[in-house]
Amino acid sequence: MDRSDLSEPLFALEAHRADMGETTIADLFAKDPQRFADFHVALDDILFDFSKHRVDRVTLALLLDLARAAKLEKRRAAFFAGDIVNPTEYRPALHMALRNMRGTPMQAAGFDVMPEVLAARRAMLAFAEDVRNGRVRGATDQMFTDIVNIGIGGSDLGPAMAAEALSPFIAPHLKLHFVANVDGADLADTLKGIALERTLFIICSKTFTTLETMTNAAAARKAVAAKLGEAAIAAQFCAVSAAPEEVAAFGIAADRRFLFWDWVGGRYSVWSSIGLSLAIGIGAAQFEEFLRGGEAIDRHFVEAPLARNIPVLMALIEIWYRNFWDYTAQAVIPYDQRLARFPAYLQQLEMESNGKSVDLAGTQIESATGAILFGEPGTNAQHAFFQLLHQGTEIVPVDFLVAVRPTAANLDQHRLLLANCLAQSAALMRGRPQAEVEAQMRAQGVSEEEIASLAPHKTFAGNRPSGTFLLRQLNPRVLGELIALYEHKVFVQSVVWNIDPFDQWGVELGKGLALQLAPLVADKNAPLDGLDGSTTGLLAQLRKWSAR
Ligand code: F6P
Repeated sequence: MDRSDLSEPLFALEAHRADMGETTIADLFAKDPQRFADFHVALDDILFDFSKHRVDRVTLALLLDLARAAKLEKRRAAFFAGDIVNPTEYRPALHMALRNMRGTPMQAAGFDVMPEVLAARRAMLAFAEDVRNGRVRGATDQMFTDIVNIGIGGSDLGPAMAAEALSPFIAPHLKLHFVANVDGADLADTLKGIALERTLFIICSKTFTTLETMTNAAAARKAVAAKLGEAAIAAQFCAVSAAPEEVAAFGIAADRRFLFWDWVGGRYSVWSSIGLSLAIGIGAAQFEEFLRGGEAIDRHFVEAPLARNIPVLMALIEIWYRNFWDYTAQAVIPYDQRLARFPAYLQQLEMESNGKSVDLAGTQIESATGAILFGEPGTNAQHAFFQLLHQGTEIVPVDFLVAVRPTAANLDQHRLLLANCLAQSAALMRGRPQAEVEAQMRAQGVSEEEIASLAPHKTFAGNRPSGTFLLRQLNPRVLGELIALYEHKVFVQSVVWNIDPFDQWGVELGKGLALQLAPLVADKNAPLDGLDGSTTGLLAQLRKWSAR
């Protein structure tokens, strides 16, 4: 693509940024009575309110020009057509096929993947139902009560996040556990208090070579063999992978191997058999609802006009902040305890996808790319880092997420949660002018001297942007919709930045170095040649302390 096509919209956006000057979000509301009506999109059970963002109608029009100049529609068509959109790994990225419920043909690099997708989905869901209903049992013929998913990154975060988000939908006789960290404490703590004979281990790894997962899988296998005998392994283990030979080599029985494909990126794999633990927990019908949610967003992304297209708007508004206002971070605050892992899930999705410094041609990118994403559930976050969001020198746009209908029993508590969510976005936007603070202090009888010294501390500049996702209720379909919205947001940004969002070369170097250092940690006499000074010093001290 000729990037010079972008110069005009980029220039126009720069000029518009200067024109906006001191105009505040509150000014934009004051000037435009239609603002909420036009600056929100309602789709199924999700309402996306972007009226508290620092954008006006001109901003949106110019951002859409930018997207068109980046050939978003053409690139989106190529993405859905299964073209090689991940050129550094020579692959398409076709996770949308995994939630294609009608099975209409979808090509990955010219080959219809749907027959395989449907067969793999059927096999995985049938097994999930069998485990759930006790038709598939452990080596001692007991029903499974505990499911331990062993995997990391995309082979962990998706099902772990979703299992917590959808905990009210999980069969009461089942407990789902997730082990990711190579720190042995993760597995050891998980195994404490669960009966191995009633535990099904699912080894999830696209490559089936990931150090953390293979180490934990070997440790779990050893624990099962020690307690139930080697012969029990076949009954207590199953695996999900895109590398069937490695799975077979581990000793997993043929009918316990669930597949996916190299055209499914790890961080996009929750829709595949990687979702097995979740499917066991919530059952096949609800898992299909989850897929239907993702599918609905695929349709929306392809069919809705760009100006009313939620992932397009999400992406462009963040680009506006990132590239024209130099905002470096993005907070995601779910006002929902069960979405506690959603920010961590999005960290992988967004930062592993768009944390890139070169474009598709390998040329250094001039502008900023992916933002630093962080978040915690509200209201806890209010009592932790919100101080910086309200009064710090960094401006951090926030995505607020809240469900109108609670899945927990206490309605009064839920109303407080909703009120807090709305209050925070309003406070970020409005702020509190110094004159208002002073007037209030005066009305409380505070001395002029104290007013002068305290008022600046109590003043909030406001004008801090946020978007709100109002969900009717957090259920499998809505969760599927939410995830797919963020996935497509990431894709749109990658198109404008012209980067490959489907590779992750940045994580390779550290993995390789860890393998080189492992023998030096294990053997205190191995020579420490060729290492940097800090690593040598740390290893020397580490050896001294491990000797004691
Ligand atoms: O961290 C890099 C990464 O390759 C992720 O993209 C992936 O989700 C994770 O490791 C786990 O990989 P695998 O599923 O192959 O074990």
